[in-house]
Amino acid sequence: MKKPFIIAIDGASSTGKSTLAKGLAIALDMVYVDSGAMYRAVTFYAQQKSWLTLNGLDEAQLITHLDDIQLSFQQHKLYLNGVDVSSEIRSMEVSNAVSQVASISEVRAFLVAQQRIIGATHSVVMDGRDIGTVVFPNADLKLFLTADAKVRAQRRYKELKEQDTTVSLEQIEANITQRDHMDSTRDDSPLRQAKDAIVLDAMKYNVSEMLQHVLELVKQRKR
Ligand code: CDP
Repeated sequence: MKKPFIIAIDGASSTGKSTLAKGLAIALDMVYVDSGAMYRAVTFYAQQKSWLTLNGLDEAQLITHLDDIQLSFQQHKLYLNGVDVSSEIRSMEVSNAVSQVASISEVRAFLVAQQRIIGATHSVVMDGRDIGTVVFPNADLKLFLTADAKVRAQRRYKELKEQDTTVSLEQIEANITQRDHMDSTRDDSPLRQAKDAIVLDAMKYNVSEMLQHVLELVKQRKR
């Protein structure tokens, strides 16, 4: 079997990681894994079980029951114990709590193990916060996307409005700022640029220019 080719894309919220990752996966016939969706699904599960409420998180219960959580991607949809939760995991309720859940080392170890299994057998484009630093430190290509917080909030606002939610730009900005802070200051696998990552300013390219630029980088790596 040919060694899988791994592309790791990291960066803060709404920098366009998943748009780029999906485009690359289609163009290069690779598997796309949205690692953030996995953290969101664990968060949603904890909320369903009432271990996570506005009053706090029962970490011990969540950690004890991690093995009850089965996640699988099918046609870019995420299934949690056999149920498609792709829309539910995008709610503000989940967005506001996910960074807290993602700071738990046991949760990270549980999900990172699954992410590595996928990358062991498939050529993968994976996006997240720790893909180039922790999940695949030997990835063939590492990208780190950046953009101003205001631009990112606008971007996410447009996306969510298309799904007709009632969320305001202010709520999104607050959520992005809070997650930026929590994700980059946590002890376990904080959001960091890998030393060998190529930094791309997402504000400099439109979607197709970004894709073309990265396809060129992939070509150079494959040579
Ligand atoms: O879509 P968006 O960029 O807003 O976030 P996401 O990729 O869906 O990730 C949601 C949250 O999961 C992040 O804010 C992190 O707290 C966590 N996450 C993580 O800790 N490590 C990853 N590899 C991916 C996501």
